[in-house]
Amino acid sequence: MQHFVTVDNLDEKQVLALIKRAQYFKQGGRPTCDLSEVYCVNMFFENSTRTHTSFEMAERKLGLNVLQFDPKQSSVNKGETLYDTLLTMDALGVKLAVIRHSQNEYYAPLIELGAEQTLDIGIINGGDGSGQHPSQCLLDMLTIYEQFGKFAGLKVALVGDLTNSRVAKSNMELLHKLGATVYFSGPSYWYDEAFEEYGTYRSLDELVAKVDVLMLLRVQHERHGATEEQTFSKESYHQKYGLTTKRYAKLKDDAIVMHPGPINRDVEFASSLVEAKKSRFKAQMQNGVFMRMAMLEKVIAGRELGGKTK
Ligand code: CP
Repeated sequence: MQHFVTVDNLDEKQVLALIKRAQYFKQGGRPTCDLSEVYCVNMFFENSTRTHTSFEMAERKLGLNVLQFDPKQSSVNKGETLYDTLLTMDALGVKLAVIRHSQNEYYAPLIELGAEQTLDIGIINGGDGSGQHPSQCLLDMLTIYEQFGKFAGLKVALVGDLTNSRVAKSNMELLHKLGATVYFSGPSYWYDEAFEEYGTYRSLDELVAKVDVLMLLRVQHERHGATEEQTFSKESYHQKYGLTTKRYAKLKDDAIVMHPGPINRDVEFASSLVEAKKSRFKAQMQNGVFMRMAMLEKVIAGRELGGKTK
């Protein structure tokens, strides 16, 4: 794998291999070759706590050499393009770039090169607009696998701001491919008929007692228009589409609740339930480090980077 920008092309075997490798790292396994001469950079043009820090933790655990990049202090502010920014990194000797950007498929011009273009840097997508969030999706798969040991036959509900959520896009696609039955819920204006390819839309109260995984999605205020924001009521959303204590009590005994974070407390998720027994919010963040190690390693192997075998 030269780049890791989407889950589109992953098959079940590859997903399971990534899960096994992430579990190896979680159990204290070490990378198999010396990566201290491999330079990487994290370029986050949109806000992030989990993904940015988690990738940096993963890189350090792998022994990579991590460079800092602050978009606000960079020449992007003088009008330099993303391509030219990456060309600069390449020229300096950077081999891998983890990028988050507000533009869907920002990565296409960085990986589909013309005959005269020389950019040679592995791109790992840390989230593109409302497009894809492959590392979140795969850490979610690890978290589900840890609980159930399988995907086929599981009932998974994705609830909330589906249209704007890159987590939802990646997860609906991969869960469907892995044989899970996907349901959608939340406000109908955040549901798109295009999602029918992957699952069916139901009311939350119909789903709560029957799903194995209840995946709550963050309300993405930053992607909404002014009118949408003016009419939004936190209390009303929580009562209609949020995980209330009443709904939590109706979940199956072994069901789990997931949320990619950051959480709008008492909106998607009752604040008192964020760390409840069935919540996997913290486990998802912990798993993120190990899955990102596995993803980085896959690109490192695809590009034949790294020093001698340890
Ligand atoms: N889940 C997620 O992408 O969180 P951050 O925006 O904090 O990285």
